[in-house]
Amino acid sequence: MIYILLLLSWGLLVLILASASYYYYYYFTTLSTNGVPSIGSFSHDLLLLKSYLENYESIDGKTIVDLGCGEGKVVRYFLKHWSPKHAYGYDNNRFSIRFWRAINKLWGIQNISLIEHDFMENPEKINRERVDIVYVYLFPHLMEKVEKIMRKHANRGTLLICSRFFLPKKTSLTLKNSIMKEKATRYKVYIKN
Ligand SMILES: C[S@@+](CC[C@H](N)C(=O)[O-])C[C@H]1O[C@@H](n2cnc3c(N)ncnc32)[C@H](O)[C@@H]1O
Repeated sequence: MIYILLLLSWGLLVLILASASYYYYYYFTTLSTNGVPSIGSFSHDLLLLKSYLENYESIDGKTIVDLGCGEGKVVRYFLKHWSPKHAYGYDNNRFSIRFWRAINKLWGIQNISLIEHDFMENPEKINRERVDIVYVYLFPHLMEKVEKIMRKHANRGTLLICSRFFLPKKTSLTLKNSIMKEKATRYKVYIKN
């Protein structure tokens, strides 16, 4: 009995260490390559976004893209709550994309594509199929580039949802809504005209 307990606690320790190293590796590699650590959108933020979308936007049948999708939490969230036509996540962290692609397959999640891709270097690849909604949770130094990508490559009427950090004030996109919580703006929703 004591051996089994010892074995189990060792197994647990190894599991905890492996997950911690995975997260540290993942966090720092994305931080050094992109200047953005890989932190998933907060669940309470997504809940806030959900109540906004339920009231103001239709998601079903639309194509969603998360630029810098990390683990793909946001694209899975969209699939869990609505029926989009397809949800794409782009990230240049190979390890994360491959790992989460395998997990999604294991869970039998369909209509989702996680793609290893640097969207800053090659943005035209993103809008091959008409994209309706773009989601970003990136840092301020990248937001000017996001605005440029939207201006150049997005179709008219495409929605851009920015989490926590937003487009520069002088943007060619129209601000549709600001989603606030506790006096802080958590999301801004823009539309490409
Ligand atoms: C803060 S995380 C957001 C993850 C996810 N969108 C979410 O909200 O849960 C930002 C992600 O953007 C990715 N990223 C940053 N710049 C990128 C680029 N140029 N090409 C592809 N991915 C990029 C990082 O690797 C990181 O995983």
